[in-house]
Amino acid sequence: MDALARQADEVQVWQFSIRRVTLEAVAPFLDQEEARRASRYRRPEDQLRTALGWAAARRVLGAALLRPPEELRFSRRCRHCGHAEHGKPRLLDGGAIDFNLSHSGDFVLLAVASDRLVGVDVERIAGGPGPVEILRWLGPDAAAPEAPDERSLLRRWTAAEARLKMTGRGLADLPLAPEPLPSCVTASLPLDTGHVAAAAASPGPCQFRLIAGDHLFT
Ligand SMILES: CC(C)(COP(=O)(O)OP(=O)(O)OC[C@H]1O[C@@H](n2cnc3c(N)ncnc32)[C@H](O)[C@@H]1OP(=O)(O)O)[C@@H](O)C(=O)NCCC(=O)NCCS
Repeated sequence: MDALARQADEVQVWQFSIRRVTLEAVAPFLDQEEARRASRYRRPEDQLRTALGWAAARRVLGAALLRPPEELRFSRRCRHCGHAEHGKPRLLDGGAIDFNLSHSGDFVLLAVASDRLVGVDVERIAGGPGPVEILRWLGPDAAAPEAPDERSLLRRWTAAEARLKMTGRGLADLPLAPEPLPSCVTASLPLDTGHVAAAAASPGPCQFRLIAGDHLFT
């Protein structure tokens, strides 16, 4: 499946693995700027995560819009302050479609929805933010009522980051307390044991669907 099923309440989260997809397979889908961004990274796996994310965005969003992937145009201009680079990437001429990318460890995730904002976050457990950092960012409420283990703290963290990415403010809003998080619905996504992930979407009836996407590039 390669197109957005247009059920009003569905948020698709496409899942890709850098263990199964190669840079050679995704490179033909990138424009010059995307290829340049990917090549800035020194480590091949960082290059692949970035390149795979944008190739996936072009393939999946192109199919949803019934347009060739190479025709899609994007902007990274920030809607909050006007900065040309650090805003939530969005489609130009994308109609009601919103999307968001996240990459960490083995995975690249692409969240896509119609008529609502979406955000997504994945973290590798080893190498992600530690408990001290998370509690500092989320405030002491993140630890209540029980003493949480690292995985459950990271789950709360990914849910919070997905919400912050949904609005495009990102980590600029940290530390959170006493600011309320933007209102939305969130879902924890079942990835493999070494990773934790969550998606967020603006309020309303909502179903999250995790979709394996490696076949688009293999
Ligand atoms: C966006 C941000 C949360 C990403 O955090 P991260 O954990 O390092 O990275 P993730 O893998 O989860 O997400 C990265 C992807 O998010 C997307 N992204 C970039 N900026 C974003 C933003 N402002 N909001 C939502 N998504 C954003 C991009 O697609 C990026 O991948 P790419 O660079 O390969 O295109 C973090 O970089 C951030 O907070 N940036 C600052 C935003 C800012 O300056 N806001 C000020 C508003 S005035």
